[in-house]
Amino acid sequence: MRVILLGPPGAGKGTQAKTMSESLGIVHISSGDLLRDNQERNTELGNTARSYMQQGLLVPDDLIIGMIEERIGRADASGGYVLDGFPRTVEQAQALAAALERRGESIDRVVNIRVSEEELVARLGGRWICRACQRPYHELNSPPENEGECDDCDGELYQREDDASEAVSRRIRVFAEQTAPLIDYYSGASGFVDVDGEGTIDEVRESLLRAVS
Ligand code: AP5
Repeated sequence: MRVILLGPPGAGKGTQAKTMSESLGIVHISSGDLLRDNQERNTELGNTARSYMQQGLLVPDDLIIGMIEERIGRADASGGYVLDGFPRTVEQAQALAAALERRGESIDRVVNIRVSEEELVARLGGRWICRACQRPYHELNSPPENEGECDDCDGELYQREDDASEAVSRRIRVFAEQTAPLIDYYSGASGFVDVDGEGTIDEVRESLLRAVS
């Protein structure tokens, strides 16, 4: 099973991709997490991506496409994956289609998660993330059992720099301009599903599992 999760910043892609990948027994591939890992390790890719990410802008397509092609080619992705945050432009979607064709593979489901702008701003403003395993929390909607500490791995929780309000506004605008056209790109294809992302985390999880089953 190969799944793409589409949706604006804060739609719940990371939250849902984590449980979906566990339920389906496939890997979770997040372009944002891969970029942040490159930043932590001070790689050339991470250092180039940093200023784009801090401003809430997209990292150039050629850098992202190479990174994802390398990741989906690894052995643990051979049984399938949930792509979270990629593709984000029509160019990235076309490059993914070409890479999959070369590998004799295809995407089974593209799930678009819909959430209003007001809700996105509230979610991102209260988000905390585990530095070790990247699990997202929300100070009101899904707080950790112990403040500042991940329930799964005891890792330290932090707030992302690009969750500051100015960067959030820019990310939402960038989504509307550069990523929303992907909904049209995929909506005619078989396997495209639209899901309401405004229920509770558990309700959205159920809708998503129904959409991919
Ligand atoms: P990335 O890390 O991909 O960020 P994003 O797409 O902006 O998405 P987020 O991680 O902010 O949100 P999410 O949908 O995963 O929501 P979450 O589950 O955490 O990208 C960051 C940057 O990297 C980009 O700006 C860009 O610079 C660069 N980049 C990455 N990919 C790229 C690409 N392909 N091309 C170019 N550049 C790229 O949930 C949010 C919060 O809401 C959490 O607190 C959560 O607990 C809470 N929540 C979740 N679901 C619910 C619910 N149902 N009800 C209530 N609260 C909920």
